Amino acid sequence: MAVTTRPLTEAVGAEIAGVDLRNPSAADFAAVERAWHRHSVILLRDQKLDDDALLAFSRRFGELDPPPNQERGKISPPGYPDIYVVSNVLDAKGDPIGALGAGEAVWHTDMSYLDTPPDASMLFALEIPPSGGNTWFCGMQAACDALPPDLRARIEGRRIKHDGTYNSGGYLRKGVTPTDDPMAAPGAWHPAILKHPANGRATLYLGRRRNSYVEGYTRAESDALLEALWAHATQPQFLYEHKWRLGDLVMWDNRSTMHRRDPFDGAARRVMHRTQIKGGTKPLAYAA
Ligand code: OGA
Ligand code: MN
Repeated sequence: MAVTTRPLTEAVGAEIAGVDLRNPSAADFAAVERAWHRHSVILLRDQKLDDDALLAFSRRFGELDPPPNQERGKISPPGYPDIYVVSNVLDAKGDPIGALGAGEAVWHTDMSYLDTPPDASMLFALEIPPSGGNTWFCGMQAACDALPPDLRARIEGRRIKHDGTYNSGGYLRKGVTPTDDPMAAPGAWHPAILKHPANGRATLYLGRRRNSYVEGYTRAESDALLEALWAHATQPQFLYEHKWRLGDLVMWDNRSTMHRRDPFDGAARRVMHRTQIKGGTKPLAYAA
């Protein structure tokens, strides 16, 4: 089967067809990796992956990171500690089998509150609701290239504090003290503009809005600057909206994209299994 790659939008994303992820040849895998570096988000439909196959494919990109600490800690399927479950489904005791519930998950990039966040995450769709729950991706390299020069000048050479208090569903991470003070919050400092280690492109790196802070400004100045950056980055021309089908595998680059999820009917079921590829380096500053 010939491998084909079709861009999903101009800014971000490509669909790859003609690859069975259970058994990709070296050439297939090279094509997948190339598309991932070029488009930051890749979609492969109609995949048949059990957890072992999802792990085997994920490990071709490198060592895996364990799941994040979420509202109920780290939730994995029994025997699969490297898999993270995103789901609103309740178990027999009435506890969620996964994280993020059925509400909106606001714009974020995964685990940027760590000094070395994962390079990539991927989701495999096991159960999807009849409507809602679409996942949106934002191309942060295109957003960076299109930054108005005055806005770019205000962040060039600066770092942003990334919050580790709340997750994208708005839930407090297990065991963390609640705070709305970026200085008191657990988290990590990263350059506002990164250089992508694989393709060398500049990427705007915002992480999450809540409890974020740009160094060298007062809190009020930083908040106003962040509002302007977020309004710029989340414009429609930088976005791809993914409408899930069963068997979809979507992988994204956590350095060069952000994502968010629409809410869906909490009475419906949505089950996704996720893996995350350990970061090869700390996020690197882009020097013009
Ligand atoms: C994630 C995430 C959104 C979704 O798994 O990192 O943000 O669509 N998921 O489930
Ligand atoms: Mn996420």
